[in-house]
Amino acid sequence: MPISGASQANRIDPTVVYGFTNLPDNREREPLRIVRGKGVFVYDERGKDYIEGASTFYCTSLGFSEEELIEAAVKQMRELPFYVTGAHRAVPVVEHLAERLAAMAPMKNAKVAFAATGSEANDALMKFLWYHNNASGKPRRKKIIARLGSYHGGTIATASLTGWVKYHAGFDLPIAGILHTAQPDFANLAEPGEAEEAFADRMIDELRALIEREDPETIGAFFAEPVSVSAALALPPKTYWPKLTELLGEYEIRLFDDEVVTGFARTANMFGCETYGFTPDCMTVAKALTSAYQPLSAVIMGEEFYEGLERGSAEAGMFSHAGTYHGHPVPAAVALRTLELMEERDILGHVRTISPHFAAALRALEDHPLIRGSRALGLAGAVDLVANGAAAGTLGAQVAGCCQANGIFVRPSADTIVMAPPLIITEAEIDEMFRRFRLALNEVLEASAG
Ligand SMILES: Cc1ncc(COP(=O)(O)O)c(C=O)c1O
Repeated sequence: MPISGASQANRIDPTVVYGFTNLPDNREREPLRIVRGKGVFVYDERGKDYIEGASTFYCTSLGFSEEELIEAAVKQMRELPFYVTGAHRAVPVVEHLAERLAAMAPMKNAKVAFAATGSEANDALMKFLWYHNNASGKPRRKKIIARLGSYHGGTIATASLTGWVKYHAGFDLPIAGILHTAQPDFANLAEPGEAEEAFADRMIDELRALIEREDPETIGAFFAEPVSVSAALALPPKTYWPKLTELLGEYEIRLFDDEVVTGFARTANMFGCETYGFTPDCMTVAKALTSAYQPLSAVIMGEEFYEGLERGSAEAGMFSHAGTYHGHPVPAAVALRTLELMEERDILGHVRTISPHFAAALRALEDHPLIRGSRALGLAGAVDLVANGAAAGTLGAQVAGCCQANGIFVRPSADTIVMAPPLIITEAEIDEMFRRFRLALNEVLEASAG
């Protein structure tokens, strides 16, 4: 019997296993094949152009055809296409990148451990916490708290950390010792009449109750994005971060900052933690670190945390954590050039200059009957959709599908659409992006009326 309703004659038999799809659908539906890109645009195999309104998976920060990054990769490939970082061997470009990242990070005398993906960096940081605490006389402090609605990765540990049931169900996740608390999503979780500050207090009280219930001496770290783009850009109230950091300090719980999406100017500061005014114990970065041209991620650790790893290593005789591609010279060369270009071209300044235009374009959508509200932070934004007869939670996907037909990619999250275009976007391109978006909204509206 066919898995889906497709007739046997029309069935496709894809070899690739496509994540984030319903697998049987791939037997009926050809994927959209993207074959090239330029600036904020990508092109399919028929030549149709699309504005990448979400930088694909929030990562191609410098757009799609940055020759300088291509050159950096080619040059490094010619010089030394691969060598290991570890076992008392080093590649200079990797050392330079680590020094640059450490100097940018808000922690003093930071140390950098490289990996390939955001998931792997978060996974490593979880391991490092356990190792650190074993070596620091705190072997019971192993539990980690994350937030509902946040995405932290797809490995066994980081999918567990991710606060969505859909990433756990069927995979026998989460693993033990991972706890979840509420997302400070004022727009959706505030009670009728509740002020922002009272909402933030309630979030902190709920977290305190969870810590007390679990026994504070068993909690090692709190893992969070400064603002959770994966939770549909849930902007925390002003008092949330100061109160949260105070609470974590009170219980000696470490703060691990996932900057995989928010890092490198997305929120109009180099890191999201600067936007919200806190200093984490450790942070993870990936994606925009290489403008996604090469897979590379990093764990950036404060000095005191790193010293715990040193103690553990001294006891064991070796730090038994490494990876063949951790500190690969080609991604490192691309990352170094990415960071140089950001400085040379003042990408942060550009984001600060252009983000009010982006926010205004989002706000202007609020006159549309399908839009219930909008919010923006730097070059990340979201609009909440009005259900309009569609089943709750399905409208985002419907609108995103219509957006694709109209030449714009956006990220749906239930009944919200999230946008985060490449940081190099111009005012004219923002206007064109929202023109296309409005066309898509009109089509969805007409379809639901008809
Ligand atoms: C906040 C956050 N952390 C971690 C990850 C995982 O990164 P990767 O997909 O590179 O493993 C993602 C991916 O989207 C993310 O959004």
